[in-house]
Amino acid sequence: MKLLVTGGAGFIGSAFVRLLLNSADSPRVVNLDKLTYAGNLENLEAVAAKPNYRFVHGDICDAALVDAVLSEEKPDVMVHFAAESHVDRSIFSPSASFETNLRGTFTLLEAARAHQVPRLVHISTDEVYGSLEAPLEADETFPLNPSSPYSASKAGSDLLARSYFTTYKLPVVITRASNNYGPYQFPEKLLPLMISNALEGRPLPVYGDGQQVRDWLYVDDHCGAIRAVMEKGREGEIYNIGGSRSLPNLEVVRKILAATGGSEDLIRYVVDRPGHDRRYALSSAKLMRETGWAPQTTFEEGLAHTIDWYRGNREWVERVKSGEYRNYYARNYDNRDRELRKTGTATRPVPEN
Ligand code: NAD
Ligand code: DAU
Repeated sequence: MKLLVTGGAGFIGSAFVRLLLNSADSPRVVNLDKLTYAGNLENLEAVAAKPNYRFVHGDICDAALVDAVLSEEKPDVMVHFAAESHVDRSIFSPSASFETNLRGTFTLLEAARAHQVPRLVHISTDEVYGSLEAPLEADETFPLNPSSPYSASKAGSDLLARSYFTTYKLPVVITRASNNYGPYQFPEKLLPLMISNALEGRPLPVYGDGQQVRDWLYVDDHCGAIRAVMEKGREGEIYNIGGSRSLPNLEVVRKILAATGGSEDLIRYVVDRPGHDRRYALSSAKLMRETGWAPQTTFEEGLAHTIDWYRGNREWVERVKSGEYRNYYARNYDNRDRELRKTGTATRPVPEN
């Protein structure tokens, strides 16, 4: 068995590569990754020397490279993680989301079609459903209603992948997962940003009133679900993957402060994200019914493990928080603070925009 993984140096992709290469019946894994700010080969140090692993440094938008890799490797399965994955960055710079998430996915689909790849797992997201009023939960037939350039580009690539099954019978399976958390997550996303800031005694910037709801999925549970879909998912089908644990952001932040011993005075309410989705919620009943998968990690266990990992890997955190990250942080958060100086509401929720 041979796999081509795209984006395998990122947060979820690297957890998936580690899972596969550490498993008893480990397949050959080829990892195609551009190493953007989010790609980090340190995430794969524990498995990089395995003889059945190969890293290819390159862009999924490069059709000639993708063609060459498929000709050389002839994978049985492609698992497509590579993406510009952060909503706030997509709001500042939508073109990168367009290029990688849409053009990159298109390039891979065309190559998979030309090479008749036997299976392609496309990693999509619950953000494609947009914001849902309680108590609604999206199943896989729910209409798509993305809000940000990131989620719109993911919805486009998700539909494009589906169209290659419908039109060309390319054996595509699509997953739509909820918010992941765990070790090695780049500290631009809620949990690693709040955990690392809390451990450093820095302010925790909560957007708007902090009552936005997300469904939290531990990354290893997500990877287990992807493997189940890869092995048992039906061609042309979509599978939601949720963590079955919905929490408002503020509650998550308070749990982090309680677990790290940080003071609630560190909480800073800042100006909201434009177009911020209020609530995501999805049903994973189809995946559970068809594959027997269920999340194994409670949020409390996963959070404790994640905090331990960030505590124990401060050098990793320091390295990823240097350089480009500082510019990003200033760009994303300084403006929010400037707004705050105008309104003077640093410790109370800022009204929704
Ligand atoms: P990430 O940002 O941590 O990693 C993305 C990886 O893709 C990086 O290694 C990066 O170098 C690589 N990459 C980016 N552009 C590339 C290109 N043009 N060519 C080759 N490689 C490129 O992302 P993540 O959080 O691990 O997310 C992985 C996938 O899962 C994405 O498709 C994302 O939309 C999806 N997803 C993420 C979550 C989440 O909570 N993080 C939830 C559901 C779905
Ligand atoms: O739902 C799946 C999606 O989850 C994935 O498709 C995306 O790749 C992933 O980035 C994530 O998107 P979110 O926008 O939900 O995640 P993020 O960690 O950026 O934010 C989670 C919530 O926390 C959201 O309501 C915004 C809020 N937030 C985030 C940051 C970074 C804050 O209040 N303050 C912050 O500083």
